[in-house]
Amino acid sequence: MRISVLGLCGRSVFLKTDHFHAPGETIIAEELYTEPGGKGFNQAVAAARLGAEVNFLTCVGDDEEGRECLRFLEKEGVLPFAQVISNARTAYADILTDKTGESRITVYQGASKQLSPQFIRDNEHVLAQSDMLLLNNEYPEECNYAAVEIGEKYGIPVILNPAPAYKMDSELLRKCFLITPNRTEASVILGESENGAETFRDIFKKHGINTAVVTLGSEGALLIENGKSIKFPSIPCEVKDTTGAGDTFNAALAVAVLLGMDLPEAVEYGINASALSIRKKYVMPGLPTKEELGAGFIKLETTETE
Ligand code: RIB
Repeated sequence: MRISVLGLCGRSVFLKTDHFHAPGETIIAEELYTEPGGKGFNQAVAAARLGAEVNFLTCVGDDEEGRECLRFLEKEGVLPFAQVISNARTAYADILTDKTGESRITVYQGASKQLSPQFIRDNEHVLAQSDMLLLNNEYPEECNYAAVEIGEKYGIPVILNPAPAYKMDSELLRKCFLITPNRTEASVILGESENGAETFRDIFKKHGINTAVVTLGSEGALLIENGKSIKFPSIPCEVKDTTGAGDTFNAALAVAVLLGMDLPEAVEYGINASALSIRKKYVMPGLPTKEELGAGFIKLETTETE
């Protein structure tokens, strides 16, 4: 069960405040915390804690933040393939969380902006030995084209989490085994929103995408598969921090598929994993191990529409 993840890694600085800013407002933060992070970084660590062997392809600067990320990956048993960019700083994320556990994130890509298709192609042998590729949008888009091409060449399924979202090429999305936008991202990547007449299933179908999971935060998730929509509820719990919940979901989904689960089972596994992650503050402390996930697993009642 080997997964190759592409992604940004850097230092995340969390500031906890009572509420989010109004324009021009200065707020005093109640807590300060730092950890290594990035969407791909979180996904890589989450997949490793769930039992996968993980390669992580990334770029870092020649600085302490970059070295901290690589040390952390090693400690978690993730195999890093990192290009060191000497004239760039390692990425940095500014994460503001309020008392409800919601977060607002600003990312400076730094060295990760220089992740290149050439670097991906230079590591074709690494990707080729994987059972799954896990991609996102926190680095240049051309890298995803290069990775999807390698996936196609070796028949390796690709899960693409289009976060952060921008308008994407439907052809690239169609080549993925699965795309996993949240509701906002689903509209942005295809440039169309759900309306009274058209659901996401109709919109995706129009673009030739027949399989997708739309994550809905506290409302659960929607699996679109074989012309059907299956709605999954969320798991009620005390929310401490939603940061990284999507990354946990994607990693668990990838692991579940590789464990042989069908897609509805894999979505249920992903929802259970992300529900565990949001019960703890920050990202790294909340990423569950496979034992923790197994112990607290909750079966979900779904509703299906044709
Ligand atoms: O998805 C959450 C992640 O997005 C954080 O870890 C932060 O680093 C940003 O990249």
